[in-house]
Amino acid sequence: MRRITLEEVFLHPITQKYLERSGIAHAVAVTEYAYIFAKRFEVDADYATKAALLHDIGHYTWYRDGEWDYDLYKENDIHAIKGASRAHKLLIRLGEDRHAAKKIAIAILLHTDSYLPNGQLELEPLQRVVAMADEADEEGGGNHHYKEIDFENALLRIRALDVQINKDLHEGKEARGVS
Ligand SMILES: [Fe+2]
Repeated sequence: MRRITLEEVFLHPITQKYLERSGIAHAVAVTEYAYIFAKRFEVDADYATKAALLHDIGHYTWYRDGEWDYDLYKENDIHAIKGASRAHKLLIRLGEDRHAAKKIAIAILLHTDSYLPNGQLELEPLQRVVAMADEADEEGGGNHHYKEIDFENALLRIRALDVQINKDLHEGKEARGVS
């Protein structure tokens, strides 16, 4: 059973505060991609979608003279580290299972390697699914962070994912003969 829903995570003021920075439209699109990839690669869709929804909440605002300074960002960014930590704290506060919170936080930590030294990371399937979902919605020049969506539409899409994930879990239980 899921302890908390995507809707609860999405509606939390901390999520809303940080998604305002990195873009709600991007977060929702990545969450939908994560659901599709999770099914395709048979990883936990609940974990993958929560990690996807929260993957960019670690962003700082890199403004210089009122404009986003991409060079400053590239040089100093640690949004995956901050995001993983913020997401973990938020999930625990909401009552998420500790094992799930750790898996989700690590998938966020590893959704990009842009801040890490050169080398090859061997990602677990869940981590790869979240990274792929982010890439699937990426646009040149970081434009995916500026896409717009109205709040109601975003919430409806998040709710639709919750319904789908709960249905999958229920069907999985029925197939295993658990009520
Ligand atoms: Fe992203």
